[in-house]
Amino acid sequence: MNTTTPLLEVRDLRTAFHTNEGAWLAVDGVNLSVERGEIIGLVGESGSGKSVTGFSLLGLIDPPGEVVSGDVLFNGQNLRDMPEAELRQLRGNKIAMIFQDPLMTLNPVLRIKEQMMEAIQCHYPKTPAKQAEARCIEALEMVGIPAPEKRLNSYPHEFSGGMRQRVAIAIAMLNHPDLIIADEPTTALDVTIQGQILYQMQQLCREHNTAMIWITHDLGVVAELADKVAVMYAGRIVEYGSVADILSSPRHPYTQGLLRSMPTATLPGKRLTQINGMAPTLTGREAGCTFRPRCPYQTSQCATAVPPQTWQGDRYYSCYAPISSTQEHA
Ligand SMILES: Nc1ncnc2c1ncn2[C@@H]1O[C@H](COP(=O)(O)OP(=O)(O)O)[C@@H](O)[C@H]1O
Ligand SMILES: [Mg+2]
Repeated sequence: MNTTTPLLEVRDLRTAFHTNEGAWLAVDGVNLSVERGEIIGLVGESGSGKSVTGFSLLGLIDPPGEVVSGDVLFNGQNLRDMPEAELRQLRGNKIAMIFQDPLMTLNPVLRIKEQMMEAIQCHYPKTPAKQAEARCIEALEMVGIPAPEKRLNSYPHEFSGGMRQRVAIAIAMLNHPDLIIADEPTTALDVTIQGQILYQMQQLCREHNTAMIWITHDLGVVAELADKVAVMYAGRIVEYGSVADILSSPRHPYTQGLLRSMPTATLPGKRLTQINGMAPTLTGREAGCTFRPRCPYQTSQCATAVPPQTWQGDRYYSCYAPISSTQEHA
């Protein structure tokens, strides 16, 4: 394998939902590259297509949804051509997913131990039971669960919400995945617990060189956790780059809007602002830039076509009227 091959390379991914009114593209041409060990925040308002992107990457879209085009190259291998049986071997092993609701991962009627042992043994059936159990204990320890030997015998409902999510994270880490896709796993938790989990996930990824795509609607989470950020709007990534660059000097007006609606980013004396308008719906999508109806900087060019990706060093934006570095603090 070429050492310059990214761990994950997504090219022009499109996912449609077939409805009575026609096909609705929830993901509309996503390009994304993830290096080994890199943490990427995929951020955008609710309904922008973040979860559908995550599920599409793993081949987990069910009818009426369908991935209609694009490539998902994992270690250079196209997951879109991979038979379902092989994909299943990859999921929960080399690629793990963590959901907002830990009960998507945890079976309520089984003890944690049985579920964790199964997560190891379905991928590595020859692992001796003693060794598998030691790994379960180690994984629970890693995510900060006290008395892990004892807790192995508990059922999911015997844990608090935060602890339950930690168990789901421990299961995701069990087989030392190369990539974790985390879909708002801390959104339902209180901020203190969220902060602890973010810190722990970052440490774990650094220690094991695990890459992660962290899906969130919260730029504050991205600022705390991620190396890179991909800003999603109406099924497209409208801005991408290092967290330091994008958060300090957004080029896309949507990113700027998200930053201004973030309480922690508000400077003293500055009012918290909302982005005006609504994200486009099935019937409301117009030609040109999808953000145009809400954009304070729109020009006539914005109605003509979808803005292409403009690269500046290692960041890009898709906008005909980008915010310049002199404008951004206005
Ligand atoms: N099962 C489904 N059937 C029809 N539309 C769906 C389905 N799942 C998601 N969508 C649509 O796809 C769009 C993106 O959804 P989603 O990826 O869940 O957004 P996000 O995770 O960014 O909040 C939304 O407009 C949503 O209504
Ligand atoms: Mg979602």
